[in-house]
Amino acid sequence: MKILAIETSCDETAIALVEARGSLNNPHFKILENLVASQIKIHRPYGGVVPNLAKREHLRNLPILFRKVFNIRTSDVQRLKSVDLIAVTVGPGLEPALWTGINFAKEIYKEIRKLGNKEIKLIGVSHLDGHLYSNWLRQSYESYEAKPRKIEFPVVALIVSGGHTTLLLMKDIIHYKKLGETRDDAAGECFDKVARLLRLPYPGGPEIEKLAKIGDSCAINFPRPMLNQKNYDFSFSGLKTSVLYYLRDHEPKTKSYKLKTDIAASFQAASFDVLISKTLKAAKEFSAKSIILSGGVASNFSLRKNLKLRIKNEELRIEAILPAKKFCTDNAAMIAVAGYFNHLQAKKYALKARGNLSI
Ligand code: KG4
Ligand code: ZN
Repeated sequence: MKILAIETSCDETAIALVEARGSLNNPHFKILENLVASQIKIHRPYGGVVPNLAKREHLRNLPILFRKVFNIRTSDVQRLKSVDLIAVTVGPGLEPALWTGINFAKEIYKEIRKLGNKEIKLIGVSHLDGHLYSNWLRQSYESYEAKPRKIEFPVVALIVSGGHTTLLLMKDIIHYKKLGETRDDAAGECFDKVARLLRLPYPGGPEIEKLAKIGDSCAINFPRPMLNQKNYDFSFSGLKTSVLYYLRDHEPKTKSYKLKTDIAASFQAASFDVLISKTLKAAKEFSAKSIILSGGVASNFSLRKNLKLRIKNEELRIEAILPAKKFCTDNAAMIAVAGYFNHLQAKKYALKARGNLSI
């Protein structure tokens, strides 16, 4: 089936057209279009996402992206008519932003019905399911011909984004339970806040990663919050405060580029140490065959590399599965995958924005 997916939960307007086939045990996806209009430049002067600006930009970008996917040529009216399912993010996220996508999806749904396709369906999707299932969208899946690797269960899944840090145990593709989550800031949020302390632009994650590549990750021994606690929860706000105190205590040296790179590298190492250790601990306890990562922070090379390295060093028989970087940060292809899985199991979400929708 052909799926048109729409994502507007935060500061990326995204539309994808994805062909999906197969059962929940053996799904295949072929990406026909995957467009993302980033609003980073608009929000950068404010140091974070401004909800009403995000809404305004989504309203502006949605028709532009839509026209790119479906040119106003006869053949493309056929393309539009051939859509079987519209999948749209309903939460979690910024409600004014979510509504733009939902209302747009409803309009398109009506248009397609008017074109004579009365079978078209419209389905709501959780943004977190989108991140989780981005792992089923690996490069090789882009072609039906390429043989995709199968993900072996049980799976321990870590979602690390700007809004969430959540550890899940998946028995199979649809049955999962939450093992733990952050009690305060999300990992990505913490990267953004520490970046601001270092006077780096928004979004902070990629900026910290750049500096960390140059710095010494052992230079400063930042705390590893909740590392040794017997649960799978996380906490990042204390780590951020440690960076703040370190900067305050080392003025005016903190203006030096070298020290900034060391702070970035040491902070990154501390946060990834906690993320990786707790993920591995869960994987061992629940005899996971695979670990999957997702969300914007999962695009960080050091996190990806160190997870694989720790698995190798500890001689664990666990496969680390990482989505391509373009599927880690917000995109609509992942919403198409989650929409397909919702459709296969007749899982329904009301078509209204739910800012706090939980997994
Ligand atoms: O998944 P995402 O695009 O949006 C949300 O659902 O939140 O994640 C965005 C978050 C931001 O906090 C951003 O700073 C962080 O992911 N991020 C990174 C990297 N790229 C994006 N964090 C660390 N390293 C990166 N390379
Ligand atoms: Zn996201």
